[in-house]
Amino acid sequence: MLSVKNLTRTYNSAEGELVALDNVSFSVKDGEFVSIIGKSGSGKSTLLSLLGALDTPTSGSIMVDDEDIAKLSLVKQTAYRARKIGFVFQHYNLITNLSALENVMLALEYGGVPAKDRKERAIQLLDEVGVEGGMRLRKPGKLSGGQQQRVSIARALANQPAIILADEPTGNLDSTTGKKIFDLLHKLSRTENTTIIAVTHDLDIAGKTDRTFKLRDGKLQQA
Ligand SMILES: Nc1ncnc2c1ncn2[C@@H]1O[C@H](COP(=O)(O)OP(=O)(O)O)[C@@H](O)[C@H]1O
Ligand SMILES: [Mg+2]
Repeated sequence: MLSVKNLTRTYNSAEGELVALDNVSFSVKDGEFVSIIGKSGSGKSTLLSLLGALDTPTSGSIMVDDEDIAKLSLVKQTAYRARKIGFVFQHYNLITNLSALENVMLALEYGGVPAKDRKERAIQLLDEVGVEGGMRLRKPGKLSGGQQQRVSIARALANQPAIILADEPTGNLDSTTGKKIFDLLHKLSRTENTTIIAVTHDLDIAGKTDRTFKLRDGKLQQA
């Protein structure tokens, strides 16, 4: 269970205080698939960064299984990310010099999986997202955008996170490929009971998730 209360993030800019996220409250159940929509600059990435403890709120609380993420020390934020969170980004953020397989194996290494188990587990994860055979040995530059995003989802799943945070995961993909990526995330939320919170611009896609949140000028409106 993820429960956010009165979450606010302000930035100090040359023009004064900018309220990127304005007193936002909501709860998400385990295994729920939530989409977030809203115009550019409405606070979507700010919200995901706070949920993933990549950033600290100005005020408010983020309860994840009875722990307030907003109050963690930097060291504990890192541990929280490693234990609970998988990130998926618009630009995939794969390591370009490593093959698909090696990218996933590296995440397993960070997660403390013993060396002898990494390859088999990485192959399993890549199978799950539909990256098979020779494709596993290709570097990101030799994979299509959709394939790269599949690899990045496999990487996000490496340490069996409770929550996947996806910031415009289909923003660089054509709409057919984008739908397939969302179908994959949907399948994961069902089979693994993973909570998924995904930003999207595609209203068709958003319509298929369990719930849609709309952000407007940092304020939350349930769409
Ligand atoms: N590090 C930062 N410093 C100053 N302003 C920021 C920073 N990050 C985001 N903002 C501002 O906060 C608002 C929300 O940004 P963001 O969360 O990135 O929106 P979205 O992801 O919906 O496009 C914007 O006005 C943006 O310019
Ligand atoms: Mg953004």
